[in-house]
Amino acid sequence: MLDIQKQKVFITDVTGRDGFQMEKDWIPTEQKIAIINGIIRTGVKRVELTSFVSPKAVPQLKDAKEVVGGIEKGDTQIAVLVPNKKGAEMAVETEIDEINAVISVSETHNKKNVRKTLDQSIQEISSINRIAKEHGKKLNVGLATTFGCPFEGLYPVQKVEELIRRLTELEINSFALSDTTGMANPQQVFYFVEYLKSAFPEETFSLHLHNTRGMGLSNMLAGVQAGIEAFDAALGGIGGCPFAPGATGNVCLEDSVHMFEQMGIITGIDLELLIGEAKNLESVLGYTLPGQVMKSGQSTKTYQARKESVSKCH
Ligand code: COA
Ligand code: ZN
Repeated sequence: MLDIQKQKVFITDVTGRDGFQMEKDWIPTEQKIAIINGIIRTGVKRVELTSFVSPKAVPQLKDAKEVVGGIEKGDTQIAVLVPNKKGAEMAVETEIDEINAVISVSETHNKKNVRKTLDQSIQEISSINRIAKEHGKKLNVGLATTFGCPFEGLYPVQKVEELIRRLTELEINSFALSDTTGMANPQQVFYFVEYLKSAFPEETFSLHLHNTRGMGLSNMLAGVQAGIEAFDAALGGIGGCPFAPGATGNVCLEDSVHMFEQMGIITGIDLELLIGEAKNLESVLGYTLPGQVMKSGQSTKTYQARKESVSKCH
């Protein structure tokens, strides 16, 4: 019997940011808006919508301002990723609620991703924090490569602790422990989360997981068991970091909703509507998405047994 006390989880959809940033072919702005509005209609209460980044670095997200302008947000919180001050200044001029800054635990990945040393990035986050506070926006910080880095390999949790300690004085709303290239395993997730929660009892943590090695949902469950309530996921399981070798999709939104709801853990998201949105996304992108529940349907789905068919399965 699993020791799960939680009755509810809070899932942020990151399709518009982590999902789309990995798509090579241009997705027209109206299609991006329609997909995210569709996701919001399923009951998702927070989305990481896009990034205010250099259009040379991530051309797919060069329409960030227009996308924010087209969202029918209702009471859904809109977060956007920014890599620097310039991004923060652009973001606060739009109708967003939260800013997600990013820094990597691995200095090598940080340089590849935002072209800064960790010291420079901490300075930058301090400036982003000031801009966010001046405009009444929450600031969250994504800690990329928390569970290992494709350049630097695995490292002890104390390396993550050291970085968080340097950021705590900024009064950050929450830290997203991010498994950028799916290197984490469930035991490691449980241990890192327990360690960091007890090292920083005042801080709020969420998990941002990728399914690169098929451990995404298992890692999510390990996170729930260690007391995490907030997770990121992307429709159809798309996404990945363009600046990390071997990066593939986020943990799949509808697969995670399915898992949680089957376990009696409430997500507040309408799964059947969400499966419909995943199928729409597949036809927009024009290739088979990694999501599984969109192909098989819910586990409670039953079929009419035809008399003449003899099962040959074992
Ligand atoms: N939004 C739009 N344009 C930006 C920008 C932003 N946030 N930040 C910089 N730029 C523009 C500059 O104006 C400049 O334009 P120009 O060449 O026309 O003069 C150009 O980008 C280079 O600016 P610079 O400050 O020298 O940045 P850089 O070349 O060192 O790149 C980043 C640094 C962080 C801006 C860039 O690498 C980036 O946007 N990376 C994206 C990271 C990301 O999204 N990772 C995945 C998610 S974790
Ligand atoms: Zn990611």
